[in-house]
Amino acid sequence: MAAPPSWNREKDPFVELIGSDAITRRVAELGAAITADYKALGAGEDVVVLGVLKGSVIFLADLVRYIELPLAMDFIGVASYGDATVSSGVVQITQDLTKPIEHKHVLLVEDIVDTGHTVHYLLENLGTRKPASLKLCSLLHKPDRSERAVHIDYLGFTIPNKFVVGYGLDVAQRYRNLPYIGYVNQP
Ligand code: IMP
Repeated sequence: MAAPPSWNREKDPFVELIGSDAITRRVAELGAAITADYKALGAGEDVVVLGVLKGSVIFLADLVRYIELPLAMDFIGVASYGDATVSSGVVQITQDLTKPIEHKHVLLVEDIVDTGHTVHYLLENLGTRKPASLKLCSLLHKPDRSERAVHIDYLGFTIPNKFVVGYGLDVAQRYRNLPYIGYVNQP
């Protein structure tokens, strides 16, 4: 993989938690597992990889290139409401799918399962649209913050209770383009 742009490492005060090479290796493993499972399912042309905006975009873009199946991609936008410290658990769809998912094999792709409220809401909502199957792939899971039990079918990494950025994850919309996953070092 090409060296990351130097500004990413020089200016930003992040401690690297998961490096870009480790991410690439894990994404390839996830893609291979997904390919094998959906082939066994006989999913044919009916796989829809569904990204949750905006955090999953970079992960999804890499992941689909390791899924050796015909597939469609779509995206759903969500907003979570709550104060700065406590998640209210209220989730709203801000941008809906462009096509129905009835009879499709849907793989929901998320950047991180934190409290679990967002994916819990999305899985319930998408389930009402009668997909042939519905599975969840998340790059990260922070089990220490869990408030909703969520089954993650394909998980990249379990991480400690730290606020992470990079590889799609942001703080105030910034740092999504860091090629690694890092956290702010608070002494
Ligand atoms: P949940 O509903 O609490 O599971 O949170 C889901 C959303 O919160 C994720 O899709 C992220 O957008 C955001 N989020 C949670 N933890 C982090 C983090 O450590 N860094 C960046 N975004 C996060």
